[in-house]
Amino acid sequence: MKLLEQMVKNDGKVYPNNVLKVDSFINHQINPKLMLEMANSFYNYFKEKRVTKILTIEASGIAPAILVANLFDVPMVFAKKSVPSTLTRNSFYESTVHSYTKNVTNNIVVSKDFLSSEDRVLIIDDFLANGQAVLGLADLIRQAGGTLLGVGILIEKSFQDGRKLLEEKNIEVCSLCRLASLENEKIEFNLADDEK
Ligand code: G4P
Repeated sequence: MKLLEQMVKNDGKVYPNNVLKVDSFINHQINPKLMLEMANSFYNYFKEKRVTKILTIEASGIAPAILVANLFDVPMVFAKKSVPSTLTRNSFYESTVHSYTKNVTNNIVVSKDFLSSEDRVLIIDDFLANGQAVLGLADLIRQAGGTLLGVGILIEKSFQDGRKLLEEKNIEVCSLCRLASLENEKIEFNLADDEK
């Protein structure tokens, strides 16, 4: 998506260890017009798929996911990174996600009330790096017996393993911005999936 690429070029900042900071429009302050345009791109890409639910993970996936859910006119559910005190044992699906970027491991949970074998699910998330968050979400869908239809990503770090891992599992990925490299603080792009 050209607008996203332009904003990454103008306002994104490269940090050590190949981290791209996009706090001014995605991860902290949020640009609603950009979010809406990105949601429209995902809708156009996946609209034939008979989606019944949008799934994401807290925190930064929630903003794009809710807008995509609105376009599909389906509920959005987000996996939580801690078990709410109101959820009793056996009332939720649980998986483990290790973040290489942040060097933390989270148990992620979704209540069994909100994911079922009837669900045809589109996953939405902000970053795809090593793919662990998406694989954790896919595991929750598998436990529920639901169907994973595809994955929509705002910014993919194509030089990390996530994309390859998902494609090896035949998971369809639509990334609106694909970073080929962040070497020497220079941002280089691959062609985004919605532009192919
Ligand atoms: P993975 O999910 O693809 O395996 O990625 P990884 O574990 O490496 O990254 C985990 C967290 O770090 C995710 O946020 C992801 O969005 C974020 N992340 C990864 N690379 C970058 C980057 O270059 N820039 C930014 N801004 N974030 C990056 P999270 O733990 O889910 O946190 P939240 O922000 O959603 O709360």
